[in-house]
Amino acid sequence: MGAVRRVLVTGATGNVGRQVTTQLVAAGGVEVRALTRCPETAGLPRGVEVVRGDLSDADGLDAALEGVDAVFLMWPFHGCAPAAPVVAALGRHARRVAFLSSVSVQDGVEPEAQPGPVGQWHRAVEQRIERSGLEWTHLRPSTFAANTLWWADQIRAGDTVRGAYGALSMVLLHEADIAAVAVRALTEDGHAEAVYTLTGPAALTQIEQVRVIGDVLGRPIRWEELSRDAARRQLLADDGFPDSFVDPLLDGYAEMLAAPRPAVTGTVAAVTGAPARTYRDWVADHAADFG
Ligand SMILES: NC(=O)c1ccc[n+]([C@@H]2O[C@H](COP(=O)([O-])OP(=O)(O)OC[C@H]3O[C@@H](n4cnc5c(N)ncnc54)[C@H](OP(=O)(O)O)[C@@H]3O)[C@@H](O)[C@H]2O)c1
Repeated sequence: MGAVRRVLVTGATGNVGRQVTTQLVAAGGVEVRALTRCPETAGLPRGVEVVRGDLSDADGLDAALEGVDAVFLMWPFHGCAPAAPVVAALGRHARRVAFLSSVSVQDGVEPEAQPGPVGQWHRAVEQRIERSGLEWTHLRPSTFAANTLWWADQIRAGDTVRGAYGALSMVLLHEADIAAVAVRALTEDGHAEAVYTLTGPAALTQIEQVRVIGDVLGRPIRWEELSRDAARRQLLADDGFPDSFVDPLLDGYAEMLAAPRPAVTGTVAAVTGAPARTYRDWVADHAADFG
């Protein structure tokens, strides 16, 4: 198979897509095109061709896909409705796709039978991709460390983070590690039909995560437990948090709390040759975001 010469990155202004874009540019050897609904504010690195596009308007994607060999596909929707036309558009132009799915997807379970909505949406898109004839790699990341940016306002304003399910353990993952795997899958051969379950190196409860943030920022920060109802009201009042995701998130947390402690995989290291970054590394990289 010929070399990949041009990659289209969707979600290029997001946590993972921005890293994919930056790492592709740094690696060199491919032309990088970034899709965004708002090129004026994208703020992407020099050398990236920034194009306007919306995944909810699949017919409008042909121009962005012109001359593209491989696509990093992230799914911004809380549903799977535009999957058919989006994947069809990819199939008209590209030959390879790396899809940002989720660890919520359970193997061997049909989309509608997946236990939660996040798994249902992502499995439906995965399945559509698998049937498309594209060469595919699915990335199934665990919880993003970047989710803890949801606490940034509280941390800037004081020394307390209020939330529900403080005892919940998560294996937080640095977006740079997801991107590093994506870059390999997009630009190297040997990742076809691979399903990569990606995690950070260790499980931490939310209470422990808050403690790490305090350690790195050099001031004590404590966790204050809220009831689910109080946490729900807090998230609904947060203009930066999508209302449609409040219940799926809290339901997911409740299920995770009842499930066995999440497993750690060595997939980041196996694919990239470098160990997965720790949560402490992530906080250090984002210290400025917490003020
Ligand atoms: N957070 C987690 O713990 C976690 C865990 C596993 C999987 N995931 C999955 O990861 C994905 C989120 O990735 P992320 O955190 O990197 O994203 P993000 O930071 O939330 O960024 C969202 C991106 O989506 C783009 N976007 C939104 N609507 C769009 C549309 N209609 N058409 C085209 N682009 C659109 C935005 O681009 P513009 O605004 O520039 O157009 C932006 O780049 C989701 O699918 C989520 O389910 C998340």
